[in-house]
Formats: sequence, C-alpha cells, structure tokens
Amino acid sequence: MTVTDAATGPVETTEARSAALHRADPQLADLLAAEAERRAETVQLLAGENLTGPAVLAALTGPLIDKYAEGYPGRRHHAGCALADAAELLAIDRARELFAAPHANVQPRSGTSAMLAAYAALLRPGDVVLAMSLEHGGHLSCGSRANFSGRWFDFVGYGVRREDGLIDLDQVRELALRYRPKAIVAGSISYPRHPDWAAFREIADETDAYLVAAAAQTTGLIAAGVAPSPVPYADVTVAATHKLLRGPRGGLLLCTAELAERVDRAVFPFSQGGAAMNEVAGKAVALAEASTPAYRAYAHRTVAGARVLAAGLAQAGARPLTGGTDTHLVTADVGPLGVSGAEAERRCAAAGLLLGKCALPYDEAPPSEASGIRLGTGTVTSQGMGEPELAEIAGLIGRLLVDGTNVRVAEGVRQRVRELARAFAGRR
Ligand SMILES: Cc1ncc(COP(=O)(O)O)c(C=O)c1O
Repeated sequence: MTVTDAATGPVETTEARSAALHRADPQLADLLAAEAERRAETVQLLAGENLTGPAVLAALTGPLIDKYAEGYPGRRHHAGCALADAAELLAIDRARELFAAPHANVQPRSGTSAMLAAYAALLRPGDVVLAMSLEHGGHLSCGSRANFSGRWFDFVGYGVRREDGLIDLDQVRELALRYRPKAIVAGSISYPRHPDWAAFREIADETDAYLVAAAAQTTGLIAAGVAPSPVPYADVTVAATHKLLRGPRGGLLLCTAELAERVDRAVFPFSQGGAAMNEVAGKAVALAEASTPAYRAYAHRTVAGARVLAAGLAQAGARPLTGGTDTHLVTADVGPLGVSGAEAERRCAAAGLLLGKCALPYDEAPPSEASGIRLGTGTVTSQGMGEPELAEIAGLIGRLLVDGTNVRVAEGVRQRVRELARAFAGRR
C-alpha cells in the first residue's frame, strides 16, 4: 500500500520518507540527524542495545504498522485481519521452533510488559515471589517498590556469594523452603554466567513453586544454542526481541501447553489492548534470521568478544565479577582503579565509549555512584568488531580509568574511539 503525501505523491522509499519528515517537522528531523551522527561517533557498549537490521526495519515500517488486530489469530475483534493473522502465526511458529517451546506469545510490547503478563498468568496480588534481589542484579520487575512488581507482590530476594559472585543456590533453596513462594524467578540484568536452570527447577518442584525464567538479556544466546535454554525447565520464559536477538523492541513469552491459555489471556485482554502488528511482523523476521548459521556465528563471536573484554579489563586493574563471562555481559568492579562506576561512565562517555555504571552485590557505595560498570558486546559485534578491537577497547577504558583526568590521555582515547566508530559504522 502507498501512503500519499499531498506535496510529493507516493512516499515509498526511505529517502522520500526522510524528505517528508524534513518538510513536516524540520526540528525533529534535525534531532534524528544529530542522533545518527552521535551513533557514528561513538562505540556502543550498553548491554541491552543492538542494531536493528534492514529486513526487520522494513517489516517495522511496513503496512501492518496501521493495522488494529486485538485478540489472537482467528479470534480478532477487528475486520481485515487475515494477513495480520498470517504474520502473527509465522512469528509464533518460528518462536516455538527456535526455542523448542510448546507455546509462544509474540505480542508483549516490552520485556517488562512480558514480565507483567507472566506474573498475571501465575499469581494473585499479595503472593510471595522469590527473585534475585535488585542489589545483586535483579531487574526492576523483580520487586522494585517503584514498579508494579514490588507493589503488588511480596518479593523475597536471593543473591550471589560474596566470595565468587555466583548465585547462592543453597540460599535460594533455604529461602524457598522458608517463605514458600508461589513463583521463583531466575534471571538478571548483570549476572554474566548462565543460571543453573535444572537446579532452579528442582528447588521449584521441592517447594511447589512456579519457575519463571527472566531471560531477556540472553534471549539471542539461547536462540543460537550458545546459552543453555531455560525453556525445558521453566513454566514461563520471558524473552526480549530487541537485545541480542536484533529484532524490534518487544517481549516474547514461551510456556508449557498447560499454561498457554492463561499466558495468552494475561497478555490480551488483561495487560494489553491491540498488539503492534508491525512489531509482531518484525519479530517474525528477527526469529527467521536468528535461526541461521550466520546468526549462530554472530552469537559465538559476541561471547568470545565479551571474554576478551573481561580479560582486558582485568589486565587494566578492574575486577570482572565471577572472574569473567559466559555471555555478552561483563560486569566489573572499578574500585581497585580508584574511581566510582559513575565516574567511569562519565569519563568513558566523554571519550565516546558508552557503558553503564552498575551497583555491585555488597556494594558499599550509594547506587548513584556505584562501584561497578556493566558492558555488553552485542552492538559492536553486529558492526563487525571482533576480539582484536575488544582487546583494544578494554585497554582504552583502562587508560581512561587510570589516567583519564590527564587531558592528553582523554583526547588521545577520544580520537582513537572516533576512528574505531567510523571504521565500523553501519557495518550491518
Ligand atoms: C532480565 C530483564 N528483564 C526485563 C527487562 C526489561 O525489558 P524492557 O526494557 O523491554 O522493558 C530487562 C531489560 O534490561 C532485563 O534485563
């Protein structure tokens, strides 16, 4: 279908759309141009971001963007949904196949709304939930008082061991036996190792709890078989399509056949109205791409790069949590270098290296300062950077943390970051 712009006629191509935006809203067009320039000048190491590829973008901006399709395929509340149904069924079938899941729901608009639906499917307000504490790397949706989760449910937090940074499964079992949670949540925003899904299942069975896998961070690694899958163990797996999976911003729910209807009802009509059908179409494309050998190679390179990054940061004097990583994530204590996480984030951002400050387990610094940084290799690997570049980036970060108040050092790093960013800009 063709959208008609009165001044130009049909607006089909990216260029024509861009020209239409410049005419309609030059102020916003300029902002977007500046954002593109910012991207081209920086090295993006924020763990949850990635680059959306051209095929997914085409689906996102395709005609389903305008379609209202409340409900599910074959059971819609709107007319004209036959092709929207077909697109959603493609996405569902691909998700089920890729993750070997009995049931998939592709409608959640974000990771957090998928978490909301998972809880809604399994719990009642006031129920006890055992999840990783926020201080040790739990997501906002795992009991923050500022989030629905902490308001509506009674969260108990488990954590990692002080000595090795690994999840303390003895503590998980002990808390589960003591508090008898209705659900146990496994998964984190900053834990760089794979949760022991089988052990969590065993504890859930022993205490008659549901097991929810909060797997938004590692969805792509699970799809590629680079991380162990929670799907055979969890009652509900919460995934995200916009991180390593390189799809549209959104969530994805995988569950057992018995829970299928409850999960679907928890998404629509309980927590959402009409799904964004263009996002559903984009998810179908991303899921097809994630089932290719090229994507599996990407996932392997992402983890290999993160290992090099962790080793390089250790060499520079930082302390990677758990001693390294099995994922795209590196969480490191920068205290030994005499800076806070916030200062590390500021210095690196000024030099064009984007990473996040991160409160660490047992952190004594206030959360606004924090002692750690959190980085991920998803975007830079999508751009074609590999182990040599990540070793160099670790060295550049190290120089900034040790000596970044020296203007010449900071300027030298800024220059090199710009070169790296330009050399790999738009590789995807
Ligand atoms: C484990 C986990 N759950 C949920 C989310 C939330 O995803 P979203 O930002 O799409 O709401 C994240 C995002 O970082 C996450 O890491």
